[in-house]
Amino acid sequence: MRSNKFFGRDWLSPEIDYTKEEWESLIKLAIDLKTKYSLNEDTSHILKGQTLYTMFFNSSLRTRSTFANGIQQLGGYHVDLEPGKTYTPARKGFEIPYKTERISDVARVLSRTGNALAIRMYGKPSQWIYGFAHETLKEFAKWSDIPIINMEDDIYHPCQALADMMTIKEKFGEFKKKKFVISWAYSGSTAKPFAVPQSLALAPSLLGMDVVLARPKGFELDPKVTKQCKAYAEQNGSAFEETDDMEAAFEDAHVVYPKSWGAMDYFAKIDKNGKKVKEENLDGMKSLFEKNKDWICDEKKMKLIDKNGIYMHCLPADRDMEVTDPVIDGPQSVVFDEAENRLHAQKAIMALLMGGRL
Ligand code: CP
Repeated sequence: MRSNKFFGRDWLSPEIDYTKEEWESLIKLAIDLKTKYSLNEDTSHILKGQTLYTMFFNSSLRTRSTFANGIQQLGGYHVDLEPGKTYTPARKGFEIPYKTERISDVARVLSRTGNALAIRMYGKPSQWIYGFAHETLKEFAKWSDIPIINMEDDIYHPCQALADMMTIKEKFGEFKKKKFVISWAYSGSTAKPFAVPQSLALAPSLLGMDVVLARPKGFELDPKVTKQCKAYAEQNGSAFEETDDMEAAFEDAHVVYPKSWGAMDYFAKIDKNGKKVKEENLDGMKSLFEKNKDWICDEKKMKLIDKNGIYMHCLPADRDMEVTDPVIDGPQSVVFDEAENRLHAQKAIMALLMGGRL
């Protein structure tokens, strides 16, 4: 179905670039593909013979396994391009002779032989410069003739967001009048990007949920993201609020999503010429984290949420830091549904962007 309106598009920041109706279509297709999978229906005609390239600059369990599995279930091939075994793709100005290869060349080479390229990059591979990884993905998109799929960068994790919105749809049937709390939580590691909290503030806002962002002082999100959330709330007649009180945020929530992320002030900075003017200081963030150790999702806080409310986390979770075992292993937890839905959400993305036969 190559004439579909998704064919050939990138999946870089769909929380901004795709409409509410397009998100709803993707969720519907993901649920349909999940049903087909459960009935053991053959879906291998959908992307028969097509190739997905993946490039992981960071660790992954869920994203790696579900993209590899998903393209094969749709009849395609998966080729993982391990950075280090290829020449490291680099933007102009960040090149090292015979170690790196300019992205404009890499993208054009892969466009000749594959049908989509999915990339994960944040943190150390992008020098902890906020936005650097997203710009890198945009550079791939600029030069590529095939869709570029964001498998998590330093601003967005849209595949996670789609799987999570699909999970909420399955649990509640609708988004309207449902209270969604994206909350900071303590972790022993400060090396955490903003991708999940930002995508999980934007996507439920776009889809019309009442969203509360809870975070201690110092853990604010990118102001452009919160501004967009407010704009979505206005369009949808829903709410977007920010608070530094985790317990107040949890009251009567239908969904709580407590998750750790870093503090923007401690990230590296570059000037307009791309020169690093401030180093990252991950150790410096530690004292700010330690001051907020009580930001844990425990049974006491879970008593505050709606009786049918659910606990969500993208995984991997830092147990006994972000969340206690009784909560994440308890009856309100849907973390394994979310992980399972990554497979079907990403199959929907690939099927539509790669022009699958549906
Ligand atoms: N949630 C998520 O993206 O998991 P992985 O880091 O294991 O891919």
